[in-house]
Amino acid sequence: MPHDLFDNAVFDPDTVQMMGEVFDAVWTRIEPDFRHLNARKLDSVRVALAGAVLAYTRLGLRDPLVLRAMASCRRKASPLFARSCSPTEQPSVTRVHIRGTRGETKMKTSSKIRYDLSGQIAIVTGASSGLGRATAQALAEAGALTIVNHPPKPSSDAKAAAVVAEIEASGGQSVAIAADVSKEDQVNAMVAEAVRRFGTVHILVANAGIERPAAIQDMSLADWQAVIDINLTGAFLAARAATREFLRRGAVPTLSTATGKIIFTSSVHEVIPWAFQANYAASKGGLAMLMRSLAQELAPMKIRVNSVAPGAIRTPINREAWQTEAARNDLLKLIPYGRIGEPEDIARAVTWLASDASDYVTGVTLVVDGGMTLYPAFRGQG
Ligand code: BGC
Repeated sequence: MPHDLFDNAVFDPDTVQMMGEVFDAVWTRIEPDFRHLNARKLDSVRVALAGAVLAYTRLGLRDPLVLRAMASCRRKASPLFARSCSPTEQPSVTRVHIRGTRGETKMKTSSKIRYDLSGQIAIVTGASSGLGRATAQALAEAGALTIVNHPPKPSSDAKAAAVVAEIEASGGQSVAIAADVSKEDQVNAMVAEAVRRFGTVHILVANAGIERPAAIQDMSLADWQAVIDINLTGAFLAARAATREFLRRGAVPTLSTATGKIIFTSSVHEVIPWAFQANYAASKGGLAMLMRSLAQELAPMKIRVNSVAPGAIRTPINREAWQTEAARNDLLKLIPYGRIGEPEDIARAVTWLASDASDYVTGVTLVVDGGMTLYPAFRGQG
C-alpha cells in the first residue's frame, strides 16, 4: 500500500524503486517495535514512514527542514528512527548556535556523549576487506547509512556485496559503490551517486591503501606510482569530493555539530621509516601533512579532518607478518602491548572520530598500535 504513494509521475522508475527499497529496509527493521498495534494503527505508521521516505527523496538531505524533522523525531525516541538504541544511548540534547557557516559555534557542555550516527551518510573507501570492512560495519552499527566503496573488479564486487549483506544482517543500512580511488572521474562519480541516492554525505573515511614492497634499487616507477596514486592521491581526491559536498550542503546541527568529518587511514609509518617500503612510508608521510593542512584550512567551515594510524593489524595486507608462528613472534617484539591488533581496534577509533564525541578534535593522528611507535627496542637500551 505505501508503495503506491511512490508511484507518482514526479519520479522516474529508478527513484520509485529506490524509495520502495528504502521503505522495505526501514520497515523490516522497525516492524518488530509495532507488533502490538492493531491493523489500522499499523497502517498509519506505514503511511507515516512512506511520507518520510517520500519527503526525504523529494527534498533530499540538503533540505534542513527534512533533517530537522527527522532529528526531532529521533530525539523524541520515535521508534521510526531510534533503531535499537537503548534510552541511555540516546544522544544528549545539545544546544548549538551557529552564526553563519564560518561563524562561532558554541556547544553547551554535556556529560552525555554523542556517539550516535543515525541519519548520517558515510563513505568508506576500500571497504571490501580488512580495516575498511570493519570500519564500515562499525559506522553502520552506530547508525550511519554506510557506502562500501571497492575497486571496480569482479573479485571485489563479490566481497563488497558480502560486506553489505553482513551489515544488513545485523540491522544496518549499506550499499556498495565501485570506484577506483586513484581516478578523479570515478571518485567524483561515486560521491555524486551517493548524493543522488541519499541526499548528501556527512562522513568520509579515506581508507583504501596498498603496499608494493621492493628494495629501492629494484623499485619500479610503476610500484612507486601505484602506491602514491591509491594511498595519497586517492585520499586527496576523496577528501576534495567530500569537502565540496559538505560545503554545498552546509551545517545541519541536529545531526552533527560538524558540517563534515574526514578520517584518513594513515599508518605508524607516517612516522616510523620503513626499509623496502619507501613508497608506502612516503605515501603515509604525505598523508600526515595532507590531513593537517586540510584540518587547518577547513576548521573554520566546521569540517573536522583527522587520521587513524594503525600499527600491525591482522588483515590480508600483512598476512606474511603474522601467519606463521616465527613471523608472529618477530612481530610481537615490536608491540609492547603484546598482541597483534584486530580490525575492530581501528574501527572503534574511526567511529569515535566520526562522532560528536570527538567534536573538539581536528588535525590529529590517533595512533592505534599497541605501543609500536614507542620504539620498544629502546627498552633498557640506548
Ligand atoms: C602496514 C602493515 C604493517 C604495519 C606495521 C601498516 O601500515 O600496512 O603491513 O604490518 O603498518 O608495520
